[in-house]
Amino acid sequence: MLVHKTEEVKNTVKSWKGLKVGLVPTMGALHEGHLSLIKKAKETCDKVVVSIFVNPIQFGPAEDYDKYPRTLDKDFELCTKEGVDLVFAPAPSEMYGEGQKLSNDTLTYVCPPFFYVNKLCGKTRTGHFDGVCTVVLKLFNIVRPDCAFFGQKDAQQVVIVKKMVKDLNVPVEIIQCPIVREESGLALSSRNKYLSEEGRKNALTLSRILNNIRACYKKGITDIEALKETAYGYLTDKHDLEYLEILDRNTLEEQEEANNDSIALIACRVENVRLIDNIYLGE
Ligand code: PAJ
Repeated sequence: MLVHKTEEVKNTVKSWKGLKVGLVPTMGALHEGHLSLIKKAKETCDKVVVSIFVNPIQFGPAEDYDKYPRTLDKDFELCTKEGVDLVFAPAPSEMYGEGQKLSNDTLTYVCPPFFYVNKLCGKTRTGHFDGVCTVVLKLFNIVRPDCAFFGQKDAQQVVIVKKMVKDLNVPVEIIQCPIVREESGLALSSRNKYLSEEGRKNALTLSRILNNIRACYKKGITDIEALKETAYGYLTDKHDLEYLEILDRNTLEEQEEANNDSIALIACRVENVRLIDNIYLGE
């Protein structure tokens, strides 16, 4: 079932009294990465809701909100195939009101702590995680799920959503799912659509850098600068590196040395498309 109104979601979920409800929040343009979250939700919950909403308040003024891919018909078809019980695709006015200027002058925002935001993607995407937390909390309040599913692909996002849920006592369990990749190693992303064939080849560098860091760690290198330096051999003038960090995967704290709790994270532009990826060094 496809619905656009908050009230319809609330009424449907109310009729599922006693059943375990899972929510998969997305911005659509669904690919196998999203579908893996939906499959996990189907396995662990009685009813599954997928939200499809390109959330204006998490995009910066110079970002790709207008050109972000919107493929609702195809997305709905994919959801139906996966046995999703309800697809919620609200208009921006349904979420934020009609004609309202979308800013924290007029809207209540959820602002995650500076420590978690002032690094990695948050450093260049000012206000991004405020927008994410605000919409995610709204979706939690509309759907009232028992569980919500997020991908490790957006590692900083999951850490921040978990922190919000803990700090604000939101009664939902956050379930993190592994990164889905193409056979080539490229992490699936809705933004891969923007890449040319050559761009896709250059994009493989991200996963290669991360895999190599992990391999070096496995060989016994724990010095973080030494691990990061292994990346430079892979980068060409086709790569505009934004960050490469090795941090604690649960807290995003800096570490003296890499250990089994470390995560290596990278953001890099290829053909001006901003790509992110990460890998756990342990396991
Ligand atoms: P979106 O980019 O559509 O991603 C929705 C979910 O799919 C996120 O939890 C993301 O981590 C996960 N995902 C994306 N690519 C993946 C991959 N290759 N493997 C596994 N999971 C993957 O993230 C957002 O939307 C938004 O910020 C949202 C949480 C919906 C709030 O607007």
